[in-house]
Amino acid sequence: MSTQVTETMSRVWPVDTHRNERGEMVIGGVSLVDLAKTFGTPTYVYDEATLRGAMRQFRDAFTRALPRSRVVFAGKAFLSTAFVKILVEEDLGLDVVSSGELYVGLRGGMPADRISLHGNNKSVDELKMACEAGIGKIIVDNFDEIEMLAALCADRETPMTVLLRLNPGVDVHTHKKISTGLADSKFGLPIVDGQAARAVEMLVRMPGLHLAGYHSHIGSQLFEGDASVDAIGELLDFAVEMRNQHGVELEQLSPGGGFGIAYLDEDTPPSPEVWADLISREIRTGCETRGLPLPVVVIEPGRAIAGPAGVALYTVGSRKELSGLRTYVSIDGGMADNIRPTLYEAVYTASLANRSGDGETERVTIAGKYCESGDILIEDIEMPRLKMGDLLAVPAAGAYCLAMASNYNMSLRPAVVMVNAGEASVIRRRETFEDLIRLDV
Ligand code: LLP
Repeated sequence: MSTQVTETMSRVWPVDTHRNERGEMVIGGVSLVDLAKTFGTPTYVYDEATLRGAMRQFRDAFTRALPRSRVVFAGKAFLSTAFVKILVEEDLGLDVVSSGELYVGLRGGMPADRISLHGNNKSVDELKMACEAGIGKIIVDNFDEIEMLAALCADRETPMTVLLRLNPGVDVHTHKKISTGLADSKFGLPIVDGQAARAVEMLVRMPGLHLAGYHSHIGSQLFEGDASVDAIGELLDFAVEMRNQHGVELEQLSPGGGFGIAYLDEDTPPSPEVWADLISREIRTGCETRGLPLPVVVIEPGRAIAGPAGVALYTVGSRKELSGLRTYVSIDGGMADNIRPTLYEAVYTASLANRSGDGETERVTIAGKYCESGDILIEDIEMPRLKMGDLLAVPAAGAYCLAMASNYNMSLRPAVVMVNAGEASVIRRRETFEDLIRLDV
């Protein structure tokens, strides 16, 4: 397999993505044509160098800006035991939002004390599992949870560390469905009406719980820092009040995740270094002016770690030209493996992966194969003329695609392959028909 570079791909692609002399796209030293032959399509390809690079970039940027800070990967973006192994090697933690994610994290070898548990409706069983596993902290979200957790932890020798999730009531510039810090949100307790303060009052009286600080996550796919700055200010003001009223010291502070990524060539998200500078400056000066000690800062990137490393690989199928309207080109995946365009009007780009094309292009709409007119992966994209059997690669597909995948139309969830230095290994096999009836009784 030759990896001679004939064209370097733009920056939405994993590092070192290029075309070989046959015009085939190569990622992690592996030709996507070879990959499709070996593993079939649709397949999700993760480039290990890009993945580790993003982990290191966040870890290094934040520890440089705030030496005691911790980066915990938000597992909801994509989770598998192979991923967890890499997180452990790169010294990141894991943020989970369910007992299922906790299970995968533990099975993947993440030390329990590096795991934190989120969720707006944690069940008593989930809390119990987390406590028994000895996880590092629980981010408590509501009064019912505080009651349940306090009962579970009443007899603990060392109290369970908790952060309180606050709703700072700030607006962010992102899609409404991925905005979480607005006053009207199901996440966290509002500061403004005194509910958050009431929760602190409860927490300090619970012997099995240790309130170490505050958390907020205001939204996802953020490109601007102003709302994060506002949220940090709200959290620090609240910390001062709680110190004065209840003697709670601010040991930890988490502004959550939300760091945006490029889906299109023209997208220019801030780098981890820019985020680290902004967040550290805000927290440092904010603490100084309020007379607070500098807390341990915990950040929770999901998309920005898993997203850029992942590429979805599809095979082109049927074509339909509707005169005066549009040309539909269908692929062998769609909303069952990537619901984001349908759910959030998310926009993706794509590239012909098996050949360069002859220079001629046409405007097409890439449709999925599912029985639903909303199953459109990319509306109106300029592509080389696509033929049945061509391969289509979609970048920035590593986060919230497979994590939100379904078996709609009894489709089989794609294989996941990790590529690195010319080697490809399956980290999750493609589902089989047998898998579709495995749970039937
Ligand atoms: N921390 C908390 C508490 C969160 O709720 C989330 C994401 C994260 C961290 C990670 O956010 P990230 O760095 O990935 O933006 N399915 C949507 C995204 C939902 C995000 C939910 N919470 C999408 O596909 O855009």
